[in-house]
Amino acid sequence: MVSAGRPSAPRFEHRTEDLVVLGLGEPSPRLSWKIPHASEGFLQTAYELEITRGESVERFTAASSEQLFVDWPSEPLSSRERVTVRVRVAYYSDWSEWSDESVAEVGLLNAGDWTGQFISPMGLGGLDAGAPTLSGWLEVPRGAVKARLYATAHGVYRAHLNGKPVSDAVLAPGWTSYEHRLRYHAYDVTSLVQDGANTLDFTLGNGWYRGRLGWEGKRAIYGERLSLLAQLEVTMEDGRCLILATNGEWTAKESEIISDDLYDGQRTDLWNAEVRASTGTVPVEVVDEDYGRLVAQEGPMIRPIGVLPAQRIWSSPAGRTLVDFGQNAVGWVRLRVRGLTAGSEVVVRHAEALEDGELAIRALRSAKAIDSYIVAGVNVETLEPAFTLHGFRYAEVSGVPDLRVEDLETVVVGSDLPCTGWFSSSHELLNRFHENVVWSTRSNFIDVPTDCPQRDERLGWTGDIQIFAPTASFLYDVTGFLASWLADLSAEQLPDGSVPHVIPDVIRSELMSSPAAAWGDAAVIVPWTLYQRYGDVGILHRQFGSMRAWVDGVLRIVGPDRLWSGGFQYGDWLDPAAPPEDPFRAKADPDVVATGHLARSLQIVAEAANILGRIEEAKRYAGHAEDVRAAFAQAFVTPSGRVLSDAQTVYALALEWSLLPDQDQRRRAERRLADLVRASGFHINTGFVGTPLICDALTSAGHPELAHSLLLQTGCPSWLYPVTMGATTIWERWDSMLPDGRVNQGEMTSFNHYALGAVADWMHRSVAGLAPASPGYRTMIIRPQPPEALHSAAVRHLTPYGEASVSWQRRRGRFRLDVTVPVGTSARVYLPDSADFVHVRHGTHQWDIAFPDGHPDRPRALEFGDSDHPYGGNQHEGDAHKRQRGDAAPHCSALS
Ligand code: BGC
Repeated sequence: MVSAGRPSAPRFEHRTEDLVVLGLGEPSPRLSWKIPHASEGFLQTAYELEITRGESVERFTAASSEQLFVDWPSEPLSSRERVTVRVRVAYYSDWSEWSDESVAEVGLLNAGDWTGQFISPMGLGGLDAGAPTLSGWLEVPRGAVKARLYATAHGVYRAHLNGKPVSDAVLAPGWTSYEHRLRYHAYDVTSLVQDGANTLDFTLGNGWYRGRLGWEGKRAIYGERLSLLAQLEVTMEDGRCLILATNGEWTAKESEIISDDLYDGQRTDLWNAEVRASTGTVPVEVVDEDYGRLVAQEGPMIRPIGVLPAQRIWSSPAGRTLVDFGQNAVGWVRLRVRGLTAGSEVVVRHAEALEDGELAIRALRSAKAIDSYIVAGVNVETLEPAFTLHGFRYAEVSGVPDLRVEDLETVVVGSDLPCTGWFSSSHELLNRFHENVVWSTRSNFIDVPTDCPQRDERLGWTGDIQIFAPTASFLYDVTGFLASWLADLSAEQLPDGSVPHVIPDVIRSELMSSPAAAWGDAAVIVPWTLYQRYGDVGILHRQFGSMRAWVDGVLRIVGPDRLWSGGFQYGDWLDPAAPPEDPFRAKADPDVVATGHLARSLQIVAEAANILGRIEEAKRYAGHAEDVRAAFAQAFVTPSGRVLSDAQTVYALALEWSLLPDQDQRRRAERRLADLVRASGFHINTGFVGTPLICDALTSAGHPELAHSLLLQTGCPSWLYPVTMGATTIWERWDSMLPDGRVNQGEMTSFNHYALGAVADWMHRSVAGLAPASPGYRTMIIRPQPPEALHSAAVRHLTPYGEASVSWQRRRGRFRLDVTVPVGTSARVYLPDSADFVHVRHGTHQWDIAFPDGHPDRPRALEFGDSDHPYGGNQHEGDAHKRQRGDAAPHCSALS
């Protein structure tokens, strides 16, 4: 009998929690599920959803093969409503068992659901003052059965109910474009409520709202006043609801935090904390705010996501105590001190690298990155901040005479994104490189996709995420995270369609909001990437207006010749030819880069319009794309296939974005790109724009071996050069650290920028060989291109349908390929160097063919002749849930 195992419990929208979701913001949430295993031949032909709302149980059946984002079949949910959903699936009349139940509780959907008011302390918590603690009280008689806390703030908050943290999340409510969207969160605090008096305390830090942001030294960009909105709702046995909501009756006092800033660090006074808290309770004031801006969370909260124990302590040439945590990361240092004199001071400074044996703090520019503590002097004290973040591998600690390595650890902090992608190979440097990409993703996905986590920026640079989104969406589930950021982007887009270069826009200058190719194109490319990788048409619906506005705006400025020339452009930012002090001066002509992007974005908008059924618009944008491509070819390409400025990047983009309509020109351009790569001695010469494209361009031009030479190059500039220099994250520039160990003098010298790691997406798709062929990986192309220097590679990805994996090994003249295809999907499998493919459905599949070692040539002979495909030896196993054999599963990072 053909049948499926139990599907997974349905997922609500993009929420990533297991089983129970709180504060759902969508009254008609779309549902998705996976089918972990099924017998051979199974196809979902129908599903049934069971939705329990209070006493009523509703069942909805649909004849459909859809498993992702199926429409909510019931009436819209209302605020606070709790709903339980399960699903079962059928192959004609054979039904699976019911899935586990998943539960969601709706948040506060309407402004009128809030009885709380925004409150701000009077006489405390001023711009240069410490973090205030705001408190309210509620008497709860015996018989509380449920308690929910809803909260948000201007600033960031730490919340305690009866002295216990309400959650392990930090820096809530995170960072959104606060003028347009202020996120609130919902917490289950049932277990913290006690009979009798209950105290709710919120300490407010500056965070993104009022702290320093940007390199111009600006602070309090959103406002000068911290404020809090909170509502504790306690449901009693008899159905009554007791509410403690922020209002004018709350009070405020000082906390132990004397100053706090995301860039500069936190100063904490544990010595006088109690004295300060017991004196000077002040009233709060109700402040007027717009509740229409409140939005529910879409992605995960920011949390401590791991710890890194210190590796080594030593004394620097200048006599300072330095600590190495062995890994560049983001978070803070937690240290234990013993027996210090009350009132003495402990200071922790942070840096990503060492120079001349001391912390290389110049790269932090104006960010101080210092945490300091006035200790209470009790026997053992654990010191850690709450309202700051640092990007660092090394720390310098002063004030602790007998510092021990076991007393120090890095608390790694970031958005709590589920890990969904793994890669490994027989090449150690390459594995470390991939690990570095993972760490730089972790370090820069902190509510907003940032450029870097350490210096006076840490901003949502649109260009960086535009090029990195495919890699990120392989490594982590970033749907809710990026959907939220895209909502900010739409909200901040200017009426003429221009996209500020950083989102949320804290720079707010005309120049930094002017249309800039590759950066503004994030409005089009990021939603398109999410659609392709997660199969969510909803994101296209939501973003289509923004996508269209961007290309319309650019079309208006390009004029009748359809060339985007002049104006402010970043071009192929930070290519190795650009001098350290002038990252704009890349070899690729900025007009070529800009016009190429316009053609690409127009093409995407045309395709998106088609998918959305906007046929007339689809035709119009396809026509514009055609015109721009023709203009590009005419203006920038010579008949012999040379593209203007003759740089690796211009060929890569012209080839990858189909900008060379003439086949002959295309062939010549392919040859020229190959020649340039050879002439460079197999060194990468691309900046942000060309880096994610060049290996794909070489591969599709029939030169994977050149892409492999670039990838495995270790001299500077190259992807592996930083690895040979001991890098543990991806650097901003190819030579952030120079071969002699000095830190690059350029302003742009971060050691933790994901942008140049964007090649990892090609590694997954081409080196290991797992690529999506249709949205959400519903169909896949499995086509490993084994580099000569590798004996094996493996990749694993939790697609929206379930786990897909590819693992190949080349040994003693044989090539072995193991493939897992999840239920609901299918794959075209190509064996090396062949244009023929085999079509496979869910399950595990295996090939073992003759393939001379050291020669990525055609397979020598076919030895398993008992199957119906050209390679033979396809051993099918029906149950896709089995772990793949062979190499141990590669791991995502030390944290997973
Ligand atoms: C950032 C980049 C960003 C760039 C734009 C830099 O300061 O760190 O990653 O995209 O500016 O030019």
